[in-house]
Amino acid sequence: MIVLGIETSCDETAAAIVADNRSILGNVIYSQLDEHRVFGGVVPEIAARAHLDILEDVIRRTLAEAGTDVGDLDGIAATAGPGLIGGVIVGAMTAKAMAATRNLPFVAVNHLEGHALTARLTDDVAFPYLMLLVSGGHCQFLAVTAPGRYELMGGTVDDAVGEAFDKSAKMMGLGFPGGPAVETAARLGDAKRFSFPRPMKGRPGCDMSFSGLKTSVRQAILDLPGDSLSEADAADIAASFQAAVADVLADRCVHAIAAFDEKYPGGKTFVIAGGVAANSALREKLTSLCALLGFRCVAPPPALCTDNGAMIAWAGIERLRLGLTDGLDFAPRPRWPLAELQGVST
Ligand code: KG4
Ligand code: ZN
Repeated sequence: MIVLGIETSCDETAAAIVADNRSILGNVIYSQLDEHRVFGGVVPEIAARAHLDILEDVIRRTLAEAGTDVGDLDGIAATAGPGLIGGVIVGAMTAKAMAATRNLPFVAVNHLEGHALTARLTDDVAFPYLMLLVSGGHCQFLAVTAPGRYELMGGTVDDAVGEAFDKSAKMMGLGFPGGPAVETAARLGDAKRFSFPRPMKGRPGCDMSFSGLKTSVRQAILDLPGDSLSEADAADIAASFQAAVADVLADRCVHAIAAFDEKYPGGKTFVIAGGVAANSALREKLTSLCALLGFRCVAPPPALCTDNGAMIAWAGIERLRLGLTDGLDFAPRPRWPLAELQGVST
């Protein structure tokens, strides 16, 4: 089975063709960095127009890279939410049109499910597993028991961790996109110079909070002398901020793993997914933590953690295998929590 996946929910215009033997035959990502950089963040209307301009070419290049024709496909999957609705509509409508003209099954993929199932594309990961989903808008621990079956174990009570990275980067003048910029700056910084708070550390459960950490970054910047931040100061703040995030997430993971292990004693696999999972400091910290707790830690290669079409194609394959397809009347959704997904009934 080979499936085309289309991703347009934020500022990446992406498509990929994936086979059910887990090979990625074609994978093209156009990141709209130049379109949004001057605004210091993603502008939804500009993103939607750019998707409209670029998507057809991205799909053509993906088909060429894979050496396939639309007629060779067994299905078309597209992100149908959650995300910036203008872009989601562009991708979903394109997929529906292709499915309708070629009489192929259409799969409306939840973007978060794309992130959640990527580890099964890149590694031998069986259900159930515990996942930390950390992206620009989401920050949750979920028990994943099947496609479409997600149990929320805990999550942020305020900002998503990716949002904290992006906003802190902006305050430090590190530019856009923020997460990778903070990681790069942090490499040269002293993580011990600023003692930022560790919100919720040690509390029962596995909820998280990041808005206070962001405020502390702002305060640290204001407390420094002079009007502009030196490169060395920015590096120290970035390193101290990243260390605080990693520390808090590690603490929350200990609690999440204990709760998951009690409920699913056979699981023993921990997956980090979503854009922030591309962060190497975080990957290292959580990998060694899992080793101590007797869990295997799986983090997909960084390029498959951030938004891409392969994760959407793969989620499409997982759903098609179970006979889960969607009608062409499926309405794209700006909000679509994983817990509301339709999966297999057991
Ligand atoms: O999954 P994703 O590509 O898009 C969403 O679904 O949101 O995640 C984007 C988020 C952004 O907040 C970005 O700053 C963050 O992931 N991110 C990172 C890194 N790469 C991307 N955060 C920290 N370190 C990174 N290397
Ligand atoms: Zn994403």
